[in-house]
Amino acid sequence: MAGQSPGTAIARPPGAQPADPGDAFVLETTALTKQYPGRVTALDGLTVQVTPGITGLVGANGAGKSTLIKILLGLLEPTKGRARVLGLDCQLDASRIRALVGYMPEHDCLPPDVTATEFVTHMARMSGLPAVAAKERAAESLRHVGLHEERYRQVGTYSTGMKQRVKLAQALAGDPRLLLLDEPTNGLDPAGRGAMLELIARIGAEFGISVVVASHLLGEIEQICDHLVAIEAGRLLRSDTIGSFTQSSQVLLVEVETGTAELADALRCDGLDPRPAGRGLLVPMDGDTTCDVIRDAVAGLGLPLARLEQRRHRLEEIFRDEPVPAGQPSTRASTRASTRASTRASTRASTRAGTEVSHVS
Ligand SMILES: Nc1ncnc2c1ncn2[C@@H]1O[C@H](COP(=O)(O)OP(=O)(O)OP(=O)(O)O)[C@@H](O)[C@H]1O
Ligand SMILES: [Mg+2]
Repeated sequence: MAGQSPGTAIARPPGAQPADPGDAFVLETTALTKQYPGRVTALDGLTVQVTPGITGLVGANGAGKSTLIKILLGLLEPTKGRARVLGLDCQLDASRIRALVGYMPEHDCLPPDVTATEFVTHMARMSGLPAVAAKERAAESLRHVGLHEERYRQVGTYSTGMKQRVKLAQALAGDPRLLLLDEPTNGLDPAGRGAMLELIARIGAEFGISVVVASHLLGEIEQICDHLVAIEAGRLLRSDTIGSFTQSSQVLLVEVETGTAELADALRCDGLDPRPAGRGLLVPMDGDTTCDVIRDAVAGLGLPLARLEQRRHRLEEIFRDEPVPAGQPSTRASTRASTRASTRASTRASTRAGTEVSHVS
């Protein structure tokens, strides 16, 4: 990414208030449905509440993330259902919402022939700030995203990474209470992605601005979010804290250096249900004795035990077509059924770095 590293924090202007901690939800949808012409159902009865903080809105390409964001901003009308942002109705109070919310759109939408300063100042004016305040705020925002030195260059001469940062700066410039960021790391190299995520985390932590960040990269979301809203085919898959997504599961992972197949047979004879997973076996726990049963089976076969541990959930498992262990809350089963009924392929996540949620056929 070109340009210098991100600069110092924005001093909040006098009178600016952080998101009111008394607000129960920064956004809230009820049975929200959006059908585009041609019978494309982008959102399908989505009901979700988002509390203040940094929330990841995660889903594969085409899951409905951008559609949801545009409805929240009042840029699109829902077909059915309701949506509220900061307590305001998205259809009745759209212009008030847009004055309180900073939006970073997914696609490149910057005018090439103006400087970053001119553009961000203009956007701050558009969100209601007086001329002098807008200028100051634009300078602070551009400093925060690390573009202070380059602020008088025409935006058309910027690299992709710098353009993403101008988009973030204009979202910040109107002194928002909530930021809606649509795929903010799009097109960035690994260093640029890291820098962008760090900026977003600092906005949440230092300015008390709530952030909803849409992404199909679970690995990134996991690094900066307090909460996660996972959607698939326009439906809610799960909404929860990051911690509860990755809590201990009721599954044991056992790895032996040799003899995995014999161990699986022995465990089946003991009434357990082992499944192959990588180099080992995943065994759903059946009471407190499961660990002892596995240990005894390994010892009985004389196998070299490499690992036996209670497994933590990995974030990407919410998108994987795997059985959910007993006792783990999930809407996965019902969503899977409806997803199969549609023409969409099931959703899986790869396990490579920067895990990507993607549809596979
Ligand atoms: N203007 C439109 N007209 C018709 N269909 C549309 C339109 N916009 C989006 N869609 C369809 O609605 C569904 C949801 O699209 P949306 O852009 O909201 O998904 P997304 O989760 O943001 O995807 P991505 O990760 O690719 O940005 C997709 O099937 C898409 O093709
Ligand atoms: Mg999108």
